[in-house]
Amino acid sequence: MIITVLHTTKGVVQLGSNAPIGVFDSGMGGISVVRQIHKDMPNEDIIFFGDSANAPYGTRPASEVEELSFSAADHLIAKGAKAIVIACNTATSAGAGDMRHTYDIPVIGMEPAVKVARDRSGGSPQNILVLATELTLKGQKFADLIAQVRGNSTIHTQPCPDLVTIVESGQLNDRTRVQDAISGYLAPFDVEALDSIVLGCTHFVFYRSYFEEMLPGHVAVIDGNPGTSHHLGTVLREFGIQSDRPESYTGAVTLENSRKDKVTGLLAESLLHGDILG
Ligand code: DGL
Repeated sequence: MIITVLHTTKGVVQLGSNAPIGVFDSGMGGISVVRQIHKDMPNEDIIFFGDSANAPYGTRPASEVEELSFSAADHLIAKGAKAIVIACNTATSAGAGDMRHTYDIPVIGMEPAVKVARDRSGGSPQNILVLATELTLKGQKFADLIAQVRGNSTIHTQPCPDLVTIVESGQLNDRTRVQDAISGYLAPFDVEALDSIVLGCTHFVFYRSYFEEMLPGHVAVIDGNPGTSHHLGTVLREFGIQSDRPESYTGAVTLENSRKDKVTGLLAESLLHGDILG
């Protein structure tokens, strides 16, 4: 594993405020985060690296996910990224959050937005279902999060590995395949009794419209992308490295992937532009 260390905060200054934001994920899921960042901060350039050749991360041992995550971050830093967004709950849970101790540029991780779900109705107990990867759900980080936020609320969990592979294999528009997978994952739960469902994996954000269609109208569908993008904006300002380009400038979004075939490139582009669900 090669770790690029930027030794001083001067390195951040040298990279400049108009350097790109580096975003990575195990695969295509992080493109949902890129969309949110591009919408919220249109004058920022973004480089995204999807590690589809090694996806899914969610069924791998944490040590492997951590190693793959450092390689992805090294790659983005070598391209001049001024900040790293770990657009993957699984990688963050597996220890990539520790990148903060390794790199001198800001590192933003993600975790399932359970706090957002709990705080929806001013402190009354909530019945919440968290969908994420197996690795996220069994990690210490998630256990700590639940212990911290549960209070009087009830929190159910469900790993949904097929929802990662469906996106990676370009089957998101196969309604029967998707609806069967979602129905299977929701079957153990009384969905009428739920207040909200948390999409705790960035791949799952592409299924928002399916969930909204399949769940009773009162069940809120929550994801962590707006909060992550908002936090990124705050951190960029704190470091003084937000873009100083005019609002009218449209930032470049560059999509890279460890799977080099043409179909992967086209799939990534269509997910970015919302040509398929998302
Ligand atoms: N997109 C990733 C997340 O947010 C995980 C998908 C995978 O299993 O590779 O957790």
